[in-house]
Amino acid sequence: MKFFVDTADVDAIRELNDLGMVDGVTTNPSLILKSGRDIKEVTKEICDMVSGPVSAECVALDYDGMMSEAAELAKIADNITIKLPLTWDGLKACKELTSNGTMVNVTLCFSANQALLAAKAGATFISPFVGRLDDLNVDGMELISDIRTIYDNYGFETQILVASIRTANHMKDAALIGADVATAPPGVIKGMAKHILTDKGLEQFMADWEKTGQKIV
Ligand code: G3P
Repeated sequence: MKFFVDTADVDAIRELNDLGMVDGVTTNPSLILKSGRDIKEVTKEICDMVSGPVSAECVALDYDGMMSEAAELAKIADNITIKLPLTWDGLKACKELTSNGTMVNVTLCFSANQALLAAKAGATFISPFVGRLDDLNVDGMELISDIRTIYDNYGFETQILVASIRTANHMKDAALIGADVATAPPGVIKGMAKHILTDKGLEQFMADWEKTGQKIV
């Protein structure tokens, strides 16, 4: 499973990228707001650092507006992926852009039918939001399983990019289902390394080592 980082915080991306943990980056208008940076400037910095796909989101709601914004965002770098909302205009723009070889990430997907439409429109990535479904007591991971089954039934090449990931368990469940990509905040990715028994075990080993009076270097 590929790891994308869901942030526009360049320092956080750099830390994970240096460890080889970053296969791509996703951003959205809320993450740009949080970064406090200019969208083109920060996206360019991310694209220079990360070789994989970097999603930059259009904010126009109509087809023509989306196409103009996509053209502008695509100028930033070769690894830009245009992020479009799962609306009829978004699907139309997706079809047009992917036909011309542009990578498209269709976002704000909350149903298997929406994911099916995105695949038919040639989306490179479909972003189902698991955390926001869980918030409504709807099992977000069940949606990922359904999309996996549908895409496999018909050999759709659209990659399932699990989004709105909130916990390390979401990462594990996405990998078990066979999602192609999971995009998560840096803290969730770092949190995957944590286990209480690792911490306790280390504490015990350190205490015993101290008692040996030895040194390795
Ligand atoms: O990848 C989409 C993500 O940024 C949304 O996450 O936690 O706001 O639902 P969240």
